[in-house]
Amino acid sequence: MNIWDNLPKPFLILAPMEGVTDIMFRQVIAKAGRPDLFFTEFTNVSSYASEKGRWNALERLRIAPTDSPIIAQIWGKNPEHFSETTNALESLRFSGVDLNFGCPDKHVNKAGGGVAMVKTPELAIECLKNAKKSTNLPVSIKTRLGWSDPSEFRTWLPTILNEHPAALTVHLRTKKEMSKVPAHYELIPEIITLRNSISPKTKLIINGDIKDRAHALELNTQYPEVDGFMIGRGVFQNPYCFTDHVATREELMDLLRLHLDLYEKYADESLRSIATNGEHLASAARNDGPARNDDEKTHSHIFPYEPLKHFFKIYVNNFPGAKDLRAKLMETHSVAEARAIIKG
Ligand SMILES: Cc1cc2nc3c(=O)[nH]c(=O)nc-3n(C[C@H](O)[C@H](O)[C@H](O)COP(=O)(O)O)c2cc1C
Repeated sequence: MNIWDNLPKPFLILAPMEGVTDIMFRQVIAKAGRPDLFFTEFTNVSSYASEKGRWNALERLRIAPTDSPIIAQIWGKNPEHFSETTNALESLRFSGVDLNFGCPDKHVNKAGGGVAMVKTPELAIECLKNAKKSTNLPVSIKTRLGWSDPSEFRTWLPTILNEHPAALTVHLRTKKEMSKVPAHYELIPEIITLRNSISPKTKLIINGDIKDRAHALELNTQYPEVDGFMIGRGVFQNPYCFTDHVATREELMDLLRLHLDLYEKYADESLRSIATNGEHLASAARNDGPARNDDEKTHSHIFPYEPLKHFFKIYVNNFPGAKDLRAKLMETHSVAEARAIIKG
C-alpha cells in the first residue's frame, strides 16, 4: 500500500522539527488531535551508516504505535549512505522515506546536506535515485524554493519532479529568507502547473506559516489542486491545531502531564538499553543538563531535563495565570519539581 494514495484530500501533516517532533511530542499531539501523517525529525544517513552513530540514529527513528502512519526523514550527501539507510528503514514500520533538501542550518549545509542540495542538483538526484532503488517504500522530498532567489524554483522543482517522487513538500521560502519573510503563497499556482505538467502523480504539499486546520482549509479553497498542507510552528501556538477544538486549561495541563510521563518512560528505557548494550553506547548518548542527585544525575546524562522545559510554553499558554505558572515551571530542575508545581 502506498500511503500517499491513501490519505484524505486535503491531508494535514505535522512538519518534521528537529528537537521538537520526537517520539514523546508526537504522542502528545496524537492525544490532542492527530494530523493525517507524522514525519520524524531528520536523521543523518552517514550517522546511520557508521558503527558509532547507528545507535543514536536508531534512537531518533524510534516510533510509537500512535505515530502510524509516519514517514522517516533523512538527510546527508553520500549516495551510498542514502541507499544503506533507506534499505534499513523498510523493516522499521515506516510508511515512507522523505529526503530533506530544505534545511538551512549552516552545519548541515556545510556538510553538503539540506538546502545545499539546490547547489548540487546532480548529487541530489543521485541520492534520490539511490534511495528509490533501495526500498519498496515511497520516497518523497521536502525542499525550499531555492537558495537565494525565490525564482530558482522554476529550475529546481522541475529537476526533482523529473524523478517522479511520491510527494513533494515545498516550504515557500528560500534558504536566504530563512523564516523572516512571509511564505510566498502567490507562487502556489505556478508550482501546481509544474507538478501537473511534469509529474501529475506526485502529491503536492505546501508548507510555511500555516497556523491550523482552519487556515489549511482556507488555502485549500483557494488552491484545490494542492494535495496536502504541512504545519510546523503552528503547533507551538496551539497543540490542538489539527482540530477545530478550543482547548481548556485542564486539557492543556493534561497534555503537559502526559509529556512529563513520556519523558520519564523514555528516560528509563534509555537507561536500561544502555545498561544492557554496553558502555560504548553511553558515550553516544546526549550529555548535558544539570545533575541533582545520583538518580537524576544518571537520567540527566542520557535525557537532559533542560530541553524538556522548552515545551512548557506550548501547554502553559492562553489561559489566565499562565505567565506566572510558566515562570515557576521554568525554575525547576526535575520532573518531580515540575509535578509539585502543577500538582500531578
Ligand atoms: C525547531 C525547528 C526544527 C526544524 N527541523 C526540521 C527538520 O528536522 N526537517 C525539516 O525538513 N524541516 C525542519 N524544520 C522546518 C519545518 O519543517 C518547516 O518547514 C518550517 O518550520 C516552516 O513551516 P511553519 O511555518 O509551519 O513552521 C524545522 C523548523 C523548526 C522551527
